[in-house]
Amino acid sequence: MKELDPLALRKDFPMYQDHASLFEGKPLVYLDNAATTFKPYCVLEAEEGYYRNYTANTRRGDYSLAHQADVAYQKAREKVASFLNASSPEEVVFTSGDTFGLNQVAFGLLPQLSAGDEIVLSPSEHASNVLPWFRVAKLTGAIIKYVPLDEKGEVIPENLKKVLTSRTKVVALASVSNVMGYSVDVKSLASLAHSVGALYVDDGAQSVPHHKTDVQENDVDFLVFSGHKMCGPTGSGALYGKKEQLEKLEPLCYGGEMNARFHSDGYVSYDDLPYRLEAGTQNIAGAIGLGRACEYLESIGFDAIAKHERKLRDLAVKGLEENGNAVIYNPKADGGIVTFNIKDVFAQDVATYLSSKGVFVRSGQHCAKILPEVLKTQGTVRASFYLYNTEEDVKALIEACKTAEDFLDAYFA
Ligand code: ALA
Repeated sequence: MKELDPLALRKDFPMYQDHASLFEGKPLVYLDNAATTFKPYCVLEAEEGYYRNYTANTRRGDYSLAHQADVAYQKAREKVASFLNASSPEEVVFTSGDTFGLNQVAFGLLPQLSAGDEIVLSPSEHASNVLPWFRVAKLTGAIIKYVPLDEKGEVIPENLKKVLTSRTKVVALASVSNVMGYSVDVKSLASLAHSVGALYVDDGAQSVPHHKTDVQENDVDFLVFSGHKMCGPTGSGALYGKKEQLEKLEPLCYGGEMNARFHSDGYVSYDDLPYRLEAGTQNIAGAIGLGRACEYLESIGFDAIAKHERKLRDLAVKGLEENGNAVIYNPKADGGIVTFNIKDVFAQDVATYLSSKGVFVRSGQHCAKILPEVLKTQGTVRASFYLYNTEEDVKALIEACKTAEDFLDAYFA
């Protein structure tokens, strides 16, 4: 496998050029990639190409300019489908991101859920994979259950088994938690869900950008993800669904280009997949940019990306342990997320202090607001790595953390 060279890759990213590489006079140490990632030139050019050279609405125009936009939009869908190993492009619905995708799945399943049915989540899920289900449970009388995390804070098949019953209708889990960073065994979890007749929903927000995703191999019913966490545009994303499941899903949005016809008496017939789930003018430039981001990541290779992230996280864990003032909540996680606290210092104070040193991390509850009940801490600091981060970035984090007890310096500097 070819080693990834983050310094060479930085040439692809405007955020590492000229003005931006020295942020507020300090080298830019951006370690908040689980929140969003930088965008390479090729993605910006793909988006801009649509705006500059062939702007037209898709699936509406009978003129050649519109045809060019249609072709680019369809190519982007084909790219995303092959990126996920979906069996057909019609199984890929463009969305505004992971949150919309999960809302579409949850509310789309409303007609299939009844009082007493069970929806299984985990305590480490992000708000976008909890709140739509809470609402749907309230509307239908379904019951929310949680897979207990193991002692490491991981979702494991043995624990899913303990909560599955004949009433389980949906199991919805992140394949990588945005706080704990563990990769779950999607294939085994999905197979367990199917063994009781439940649907398996894979929240891929934190996995699709970092690992090879194979929806057929994992046999998931639905998978959602955002473009902006994988070098793609904000406001872009996709929902994959098995064809037979997407066909049964009630649309969340109604409007243009998702219907075949409707009459004054209220009769409506909907369009075919995937269009029946894409009402209104779509984020065409975003979808084209997302397709380009998929190509960009494939050109680097997921094995190299994963290996690089693991190397950085191991270095960070080792350095933080050697500093002696940190509590690390996921020292054994396999991805590029390190979640920690500096003893006796509030997480937000640590993040502000690190920012004063030019090191940018996220702090707080990271939208996973049930997890503090398990971790027994109100907030944490999270460093998350991506392909363009260097060992120097990690050293800057470790060095700054050594003195993070001096956080008041950040406020009074
Ligand atoms: N879900 C994103 C995060 O974990 C925003 O930071």
